[in-house]
Amino acid sequence: MIATLIMHICHVLLTTATFLGLYTNIVRSKEWWDGANYYQIYPRSFQDSNGDGIGDLNGVTEKLQYLKDIGFTAAWLSPIFKSPMVDFGYDISDFYAIQPEYGTMEDFKALVARAKQVGIRIILDFVPNHTSDECEWFVKSVNREPGYEDFYVWNNGTVDSNGKRQPPSNWISAFRYSAWEWNEQRQQYYLHQFAIKQADLNFRNPLVVAKMKEVMSYWLDTGISGFRIDSIPFLFEKGPDKNGNFPDEPVIDDVSVCPDPNDWCHLNHTYTQDQPESIEMVYQWRELVEQYRKEKGGESRVLLTEAYTTFENLMLSYGDGQRNGSMVPFNFYFMTNVKNDSSAQEIVDIIERWMQSMPAGVSANWVLGNHDNPRYSTRLGVQRADLFAILLQTLPGNAVTYYGEELCMEDGEVTWEQTVDPQGCNADPSNYQNYSRDPARTPYQWDASKNAGFSTADRPWLPVASNYRTNNALAQLRAPKSHLQIFMKLIRLRKLRSLQDGPLKIKAIGNDIIIYSREISGDDLFVIVLNLGGTPQSLNINEHFNMGSQAEVITSSLQSAYHDGDIVDPKKYVAEPYVGVILAKV
Ligand code: GLC
Repeated sequence: MIATLIMHICHVLLTTATFLGLYTNIVRSKEWWDGANYYQIYPRSFQDSNGDGIGDLNGVTEKLQYLKDIGFTAAWLSPIFKSPMVDFGYDISDFYAIQPEYGTMEDFKALVARAKQVGIRIILDFVPNHTSDECEWFVKSVNREPGYEDFYVWNNGTVDSNGKRQPPSNWISAFRYSAWEWNEQRQQYYLHQFAIKQADLNFRNPLVVAKMKEVMSYWLDTGISGFRIDSIPFLFEKGPDKNGNFPDEPVIDDVSVCPDPNDWCHLNHTYTQDQPESIEMVYQWRELVEQYRKEKGGESRVLLTEAYTTFENLMLSYGDGQRNGSMVPFNFYFMTNVKNDSSAQEIVDIIERWMQSMPAGVSANWVLGNHDNPRYSTRLGVQRADLFAILLQTLPGNAVTYYGEELCMEDGEVTWEQTVDPQGCNADPSNYQNYSRDPARTPYQWDASKNAGFSTADRPWLPVASNYRTNNALAQLRAPKSHLQIFMKLIRLRKLRSLQDGPLKIKAIGNDIIIYSREISGDDLFVIVLNLGGTPQSLNINEHFNMGSQAEVITSSLQSAYHDGDIVDPKKYVAEPYVGVILAKV
């Protein structure tokens, strides 16, 4: 099966390698992480090599060539470290060990070695904000062992007028209910901004800062190319006042938006989110990777940062003018603001704001999905999935792909009984679907065999999405045109000079059309036309970008009637419903 898959990839690569002869213009970017294609692997759901129903490292290793053939530069793996798996690896109990169900340290080393062989860089998930309560550091802190007393955020809490113990403040966990948990042994509350078993580290303690830097250096020594850093806005909380008290957070102004007092969205997180020290930590971690390179040589190591925060903070995470920060602050401004009903102008404004606000010398990045959000083909409409892939891959800077987006995978169906995500489990059968992240984490759809070729187990850890028999990698490699083949073409196109370095000129026409050009003078002129709406629109493209009398269709959405290589008249172009197209001036 795998051999057939690879044969088909080779075939596709060969047949699509000839268009326009544009390969002569391929450029190398300054740093490998600039203008790159990042792929997020959720290891638990990617490929199960030992039949236990859970994806693992050897499964990833097997598939690295496939990722390389698609054209990805680097793959970041969601956490693979030892963990009780309450939050599927974001609750780490040993930062220096591999989770046994994912494999061994030898398996990890083999993965890195194979990745180097095929030419894919490996990026690990670094989770600095919290540890599992099963982590040795937490146990030591509970026991007040010297050096560990203040490793976590501990507090006595208060006693109410009925003599009942109460948490130190009204803070709520991102997964619902109080963010404070009583520890019987230490006779104090500890802070957990996520699940009860995810205790928040105390970043105001320099020993914690140092310890987490050791963790980074340890993994850098294994030959990885950088980190995706988790939960930046949560790193610091406002410290206690002189009496040791933490202030309550104010309730949101319009309670009707989030009436449930146990829900995280009920409060304004003035004291638990976005403290300026959190971005300062990003600068320190950037220094660490720069220093590491100075000492040990090799390529530059990348930092990708996860922060659902204000636009201003996202810009600040790039750097503050004095210090550098993240190379890729995930563009969640784009991901969260591009909505199913966004107009062309709204999307253009979102893109232009990012492009115009970035500090000098950094690159943009574009992301529409990850393991915490519904898949974008489900969110933005499956018929427009190629259109958004075209947008992501033809904007300047870095593109981030969540596993399965290249196949246009949709959210799977996960019943209440099958729900395992703590955020889903903390809800109830009537509303878990609004909270659970399981549907976006269903197994990769490799082929039409049992469990989509993901696992030979009787029951994978999450059910496979029901459309896997028709929508899978193998079928898409065999079909004359498919989401995956369009995607592969897009990645190759992105390496061309005009798409790497050409300025973006973008505008909206009416409610539905986004049109933009990418061109380096003296090189290819590409014009991209996206029709967000359900009706065909006739356009004179030359009124916006002068394409002369003929343009070639380089690629277009799957349902388009245009074929790659068709020559069209730009003055009488018809933008088909929900279709994206890349045209090149002939
Ligand atoms: C990040 C992760 C998410 C996890 C949370 C707590 O947001 O992406 O999956 O639940 O951090 O670690």
